[in-house]
Amino acid sequence: MARKTIVAGNWKMNMTPSQAVELINTLKPLVATDAVDVVFCVPAIDIIPALEAAKGSNIQIGAENMYYEESGAYTGEISPAMLTDVGVKYVIIGHSERREYFAETDETVNKKVLKAFEHGITPIVCCGETLTQREQGVTIDFIRQQIKIAFLNVTEDQAKKAVIAYEPIWAIGTGKVATTEQAQEVCAAIRECIAELYGDDAAEVIRIQYGGSVSASSAAELFSQKDIDGGLVGGAALKPDFGKIVNYKDFKVVEY
Ligand code: 13P
Repeated sequence: MARKTIVAGNWKMNMTPSQAVELINTLKPLVATDAVDVVFCVPAIDIIPALEAAKGSNIQIGAENMYYEESGAYTGEISPAMLTDVGVKYVIIGHSERREYFAETDETVNKKVLKAFEHGITPIVCCGETLTQREQGVTIDFIRQQIKIAFLNVTEDQAKKAVIAYEPIWAIGTGKVATTEQAQEVCAAIRECIAELYGDDAAEVIRIQYGGSVSASSAAELFSQKDIDGGLVGGAALKPDFGKIVNYKDFKVVEY
């Protein structure tokens, strides 16, 4: 069974609501394709204007984070029902920046993943090693641990719908993209881990993205790997280049 490529932009803490509308209007014609699922994960305050701007297009709007409680005294947080109420279908969970700056742990990631599924939101579950871990040779062990904890108590049917983003921390925002071999090796190991947890059917359908300095020139080779089903894109998602990343198949021979 063929997996549909999913290319998601992670806007991080960029774009005011009016800039968001402008960017979506610019990108809309550039990312128009049925071949790839296109998701823009935007800051919470941009979600509603982004949904409005994306109406009638193939762009789906996602969130960058979500809390794992239903409602209550959690100042500053966004609940799953708030996201589904306006039509959000995807949420990034456990990005390394949230782990580093906002005390996210594998345990909170797991709670959020379970809560997202409970509300019918597809989590884009992030994992990734530090440069030190890579140099110590523990990358695969570390990623397997992150995945196993993130998916605790997640059912097979839910796991089949999940998206996993492998984002080596040393490649994020550094311009240092992982080599195709490095990215493929870890994405294959993630698929193997899912096979161990849920069986071959789930491993066959779950989508695994690569993220970390993806650009128009690196997307085609990365996304053509056997176990890489698209990308989670930071900086380049804020530029017209994102259109080339989404249409990577047509831009295979682009040289810069
Ligand atoms: P960059 O593409 O800017 O390296 O960011 C990757 C990322 O963190 C996406 O979630």
